[in-house]
Amino acid sequence: MREAGDQIQKYVESLIPQKSSVRQKIADELVKDGKWGINIGSVEGAILQFLVRAFKVKKILEIGTQYGYSTQWMLEALPADGSIVTLEKDPAHHAKARSLVQDARVEFLLGDAVEVLPTVAARAPFDLVFIDANKKAYPEYLSWAEKFTKSGSLIVGDNTFLFGGVLQDTPPADGNAGLWRAMRDFNKNIFDNSQFVSCLIPTAEGLTVAMRK
Ligand SMILES: C[S@@+](CC[C@H](N)C(=O)[O-])C[C@H]1O[C@@H](n2cnc3c(N)ncnc32)[C@H](O)[C@@H]1O
Repeated sequence: MREAGDQIQKYVESLIPQKSSVRQKIADELVKDGKWGINIGSVEGAILQFLVRAFKVKKILEIGTQYGYSTQWMLEALPADGSIVTLEKDPAHHAKARSLVQDARVEFLLGDAVEVLPTVAARAPFDLVFIDANKKAYPEYLSWAEKFTKSGSLIVGDNTFLFGGVLQDTPPADGNAGLWRAMRDFNKNIFDNSQFVSCLIPTAEGLTVAMRK
């Protein structure tokens, strides 16, 4: 779906400035390893940068590092005294991200997010929590994000259209009912939660954005 682009997507992408050299290097590695496209696209990157700057975000928690492409997008908008804690369970992805994104403002943590998240509590509150890991665990990540944020903080979830899956009103019969339920719950819970003001930006993949009141 992503970057395959209908005309709107292509037009928006054409407006976004060229990649920085670090982002280009990460993109090259992702392509080389056959992993390009799992990462965010430039439309989501530009939205994340906009949010970081507009909300004067300083402390970010990212769930799902992969090669650090989204980390780098956010980093480029972050002030000198900002910081990003990013979580990744795949040791190869974690190592690759560490070698590609070399910036003292970023802390890379290795492990399953659900196990690592409790260890991050001491660094809370975060100004922005970006959720982009195991889709089935999104409701659980949301519960942690709620604990780790304060008034004015943002929670952003990528892929919240579940590759089109959430558009169905009934669970799919192909064994993905749990995944469908998780993403439907994530979106519904965030919109229903009176602590948040929420929107779902209809990017190609769906980007849910909420601000804590
Ligand atoms: C969609 S990719 C992240 C892409 C990255 N945010 C970007 O746009 O550049 C999802 C990543 O989450 C990791 N992941 C999946 N399940 C996880 C879990 N339970 N805990 C931590 N990381 C997980 C995967 O290994 C993968 O690297």
